[in-house]
Amino acid sequence: MAILAPSFLASDFLHLEKTCKMIDESTADWCHLDVMDGRFVPNISFGIPIIEHIRRATKKICDVHLMILDPGDYASAFQKAGADILSIHLEACPNLHRNIQQIKELGMKASVAINPHTPVSMLQDVLGDIDMVCMMSVNPGFGGQKFIPHTLEKVKELRRIIDEKNYPVIIEVDGGVTLENAPSILAAGADALVAGSSIFNTKDPLATITAFKNL
Ligand code: DX5
Ligand code: ZN
Repeated sequence: MAILAPSFLASDFLHLEKTCKMIDESTADWCHLDVMDGRFVPNISFGIPIIEHIRRATKKICDVHLMILDPGDYASAFQKAGADILSIHLEACPNLHRNIQQIKELGMKASVAINPHTPVSMLQDVLGDIDMVCMMSVNPGFGGQKFIPHTLEKVKELRRIIDEKNYPVIIEVDGGVTLENAPSILAAGADALVAGSSIFNTKDPLATITAFKNL
């Protein structure tokens, strides 16, 4: 049973409390919270005050995905807001190693996200320092996009490296994940799945979460 992280980006922002309750009652594991700055990605979503509210309304782990430039400048603010896991993009961090240390010193799990065009080999020198890789399977910035099939090869490659070196690193796959393609993503070696529109755009999100967890 893989870790499931419903992405709030596809949820009804007018009813965040209801969504938190639904997630708490469900078998989902984490709340995936997508922060966008309109600079690193061509979209703006939500930020620190919204995460503070979600944190207070849910008991689940808050998995915060920063799609922002200079994420190190905000790591402490997101920790205070309630992030348990903080994903920062490799492409946004000229001082990635320093930013990872910062996140860990603040007591959060450190995760590095990579875009679909970024080779897995770029992670080589930080894999021993991080808790998770967030493997983007769409170009970050929007929910509801189609899964990029080439990502499956990247998941397999990363799985092989992690297993070879015995790193305690989780592989999370984010973007375009559906009930239909989830089995092949899990077979490729993913440990955690993010799903936004394929959960919240269904009639019964709670039942969809159960279906994902039963895969
Ligand atoms: C995309 C975000 C994803 C997004 C996934 O930039 O990082 O987490 O919410 O949405 P779906 O599951 O609809 O592709
Ligand atoms: Zn995300």
